[in-house]
Amino acid sequence: MTELDINIKVRVFENIKALTPADAALMQAAKVALINSYSPYSQFKVAAAVLLENGEILTGTNQENASYPVGICAEGTVLSAVSALYPNVAVKKMAVTVKSGRSLVSKPVAPCGICRQRIYEYEMRFNADIEIIMMGEEGEVYRVKSIKDLLPLAFFKM
Ligand code: THU
Repeated sequence: MTELDINIKVRVFENIKALTPADAALMQAAKVALINSYSPYSQFKVAAAVLLENGEILTGTNQENASYPVGICAEGTVLSAVSALYPNVAVKKMAVTVKSGRSLVSKPVAPCGICRQRIYEYEMRFNADIEIIMMGEEGEVYRVKSIKDLLPLAFFKM
C-alpha cells in the first residue's frame, strides 16, 4: 500500500486592500455585480467575476427559481456567459463574493460542489489553472491557485 499525500495551500489576506491591484479589481467587479443577483427565496446574493486570457472581465450572479433546484449559482451563470461570448478564451481567475439579507458575512464563501466541478471542466478544457479568490461582504480573503485545491481527485473523462 502507498499513500497519496494531497496538500492544498490557501493564501489568506487580511482584507481586499491586501490583494494585488488586479485581484482587488476583480473582486470589486464581483461586488458591484451583486446588485444583479435574483435571490428572493434565499436573500443570499452571490456574485462571480472572471478575468479572461484576453483581459476581459465578465460577471454573473445567482439566479433563483420558485422551483428551487432550477436556480443557477453565480459561478455557473458567469461561466455560461463566457461560453456564450468568448467560447475559445481561457479563464485565468475567478473572484466570488456574497451579501446576505439576513446577517453580515465576514468570512469567505467557497464555490459549491457542483460549481467546483464546473470550474474544473474549464481548467481541463483550456489546460490552464484558474485562480479562485473568495471573500464575504468584508474581512479576510482566501486565494487558491487552482480549482484542484478545492476539488482534489476530481472526476474527468476525455
Ligand atoms: N450559490 C451560488 O450562487 N454559488 C455557490 O457556489 C453556492 C450557492 C447560491 C445558490 C442560492 O441562490 C444561494 O446561493 C443560497 O444558497
